[in-house]
Amino acid sequence: MEIQEISKKNLISGAFLAFEGIDGSGKSTQIQMLAAKLRERGVRFYTTMEPTDSPIGSLIHQIMTGRIKADNRVIAALFAADRLDHLLNEVDGIAAKIADGISVISDRYYFSSYAYHSVDMPMEWVVQANEQSSAILKPTATIFIDVDPDIALERISRNRFHKELFEKKSMLVRVREKYLEAFERLKDSENIIMIDGSQTPQRISEEIWQRVCEYFVLK
Ligand code: ADP
Ligand code: TYD
Repeated sequence: MEIQEISKKNLISGAFLAFEGIDGSGKSTQIQMLAAKLRERGVRFYTTMEPTDSPIGSLIHQIMTGRIKADNRVIAALFAADRLDHLLNEVDGIAAKIADGISVISDRYYFSSYAYHSVDMPMEWVVQANEQSSAILKPTATIFIDVDPDIALERISRNRFHKELFEKKSMLVRVREKYLEAFERLKDSENIIMIDGSQTPQRISEEIWQRVCEYFVLK
């Protein structure tokens, strides 16, 4: 379907796409490639990520890099708070952008919390901690780039000098399992698009485009 046609039936609000996957799955690569396509076609959009660069997000970054110590429950709660600020912040909150018709693409959203934090606490707790966010804004689609943890680790170690807290193989294996569990659990209330992330960046980008181009509205 052409974007032009969709723009007629979806003029009131922007789309919200959340990219998900284990570290090194290729999310930021794909967001850049999607952004280039949207730019070419004159779509109004905004790209963003979690953790954010807000004060709460920077606290999270300091914990993730080991500069500050915190209990896992505290970390999970900080991510939930960072997400609410990401949605509601008066300066650049994404809920207002979407209401204004600007599409938003986020590198990670609440499924990251469901997957990463349910490794060491009940998923139910994590889902409840993020209930406000899911009530305010559910993604138009969550795009899960699925890669084998070995491939992801290989990509990460090729390109990064230090490994952060979660970038260990056993952790990536468990996080991937938890993602799949969360998708199964919420499949009736969420629109989840599974993408095979072991293909070339070009092929993945084409597949994502085929699945999502209908959501965007022209300027
Ligand atoms: P993420 O944002 O999910 O952590 P990145 O997009 O940063 O992942 O990708 C991690 C690394 O893998 C980067 O160096 C990137 O260039 C490389 N990469 C991304 N997608 C692919 C792909 N499909 N095949 C091979 N390498 C890739
Ligand atoms: P980042 O360096 O942005 O990793 P990536 O480029 O792979 O997205 O670090 C984000 C880390 O934070 C990543 O390991 C996943 C983790 N995370 C959580 O544990 N909970 C969350 O709710 C979110 C959004 C991220």
